[in-house]
Amino acid sequence: MPNLLIVKERIKKFNNIIKVSGDKSISIRWILFSSLANGVSKANNLLISEDVLAALGAIKKLGIRFTLKNNICKIFGKGINGYNYSKNIVINAKNSGTLGRLLPGLLINSTKTIKLIGDKSLSKRDFKRIADPLSKFGVHFKLKKKKNLPLLLKGSSNLKPIKYLEAKGSAQCKSAVIFAGMRTSGTTYIKAKKSRNHTELLCKYLNLPIKIKTTKKFDFIKINKVNKIKTLNYKIPSDISSSAFFLVLTALSQDSKLTIKNVNINSSRIAIITILKKMGVLIKLKNKKIYKGEKNADIQVKGPKRLKPINCPVSLNSGAIDEFLVIFLVAAKANGISYFKNLGELNQKESPRLDWGAKILGKMGIKTELKNDSLKIYGNPNLKVRNPFSLSCN
Ligand code: S3P
Repeated sequence: MPNLLIVKERIKKFNNIIKVSGDKSISIRWILFSSLANGVSKANNLLISEDVLAALGAIKKLGIRFTLKNNICKIFGKGINGYNYSKNIVINAKNSGTLGRLLPGLLINSTKTIKLIGDKSLSKRDFKRIADPLSKFGVHFKLKKKKNLPLLLKGSSNLKPIKYLEAKGSAQCKSAVIFAGMRTSGTTYIKAKKSRNHTELLCKYLNLPIKIKTTKKFDFIKINKVNKIKTLNYKIPSDISSSAFFLVLTALSQDSKLTIKNVNINSSRIAIITILKKMGVLIKLKNKKIYKGEKNADIQVKGPKRLKPINCPVSLNSGAIDEFLVIFLVAAKANGISYFKNLGELNQKESPRLDWGAKILGKMGIKTELKNDSLKIYGNPNLKVRNPFSLSCN
């Protein structure tokens, strides 16, 4: 039975304050760091989603205990070498690319073979992108069709640090190598195209041996072996990616207003705000705070009378990577043609988001041109989607 969403009544105008759920990237990283800490770490407002539950399931397989009540979680870490498991364990990352790609970095010193599996969608995704750099540390990988899950990983106690160029702008690849560097004697050097930097900020907050130099296009990271991680109590801020749906809903509702409380506004994540502002949406950040190295704020948004089209700078791609599908909806109602370029990475996600974006807009009656990894959207401010449509998502 397919999931069906029926909208019965349209709200014309609203002025509300809301809270959305905890940030997924920070929730998963909190679990992974806390699983290696010396003692009990506690999180408030942990995101309770399949991906995060898969991360908790994974550390349980590795011998780490946790408790979870509502969205308060405690993890009972046993130190950096505290994972305890028998050989040939199977870890299921389910649908989570972040878990599936970050965890192998922490397992590169495992002399017992570990099998990593995932659901149908994750099993189609590219794991060569982490197996290649991690192999250079001295880990052995066996991947289905040399690229996919299931994968077998057998680490080594004789690891060598590496020099790695991360050129896709993938935070998952960068983070996998940072984690591997934390396990390896000597200095691991990373030159990474800009992407979300939660892993680095947590390393810094925890006083781990990391050095970061940032330039406009790249981050230069040096990481050394970590001997001890202190416990990490964390109030997880709200997720900008979950907020994106409400930002866009407000942007599309003339004269409506919304405030979303305590959202993570890490500069590597808020390209959606820059993009919407360029399109004429009125957005203000209030009550800005720095919490454990991360910037958080309340986001105030107001729907404008008129939406402008955008020629989206490619420098904003990585910072809005999970938000483009909803950004395309704003472009669909803008007064002119919008251009989005170099978005090949969108088709590497849980679903081929660029291809489907064009398909969905077509079903809504919006003209698009999809060429290689670029999309042109012919906006129509008078667009009215009257007839329900269905989309086969296979
Ligand atoms: C994530 C990185 C991004 C993003 C994903 C979460 C992370 O993936 O799309 O939802 O938490 O590191 P890529 O690293 O593949 O760009």
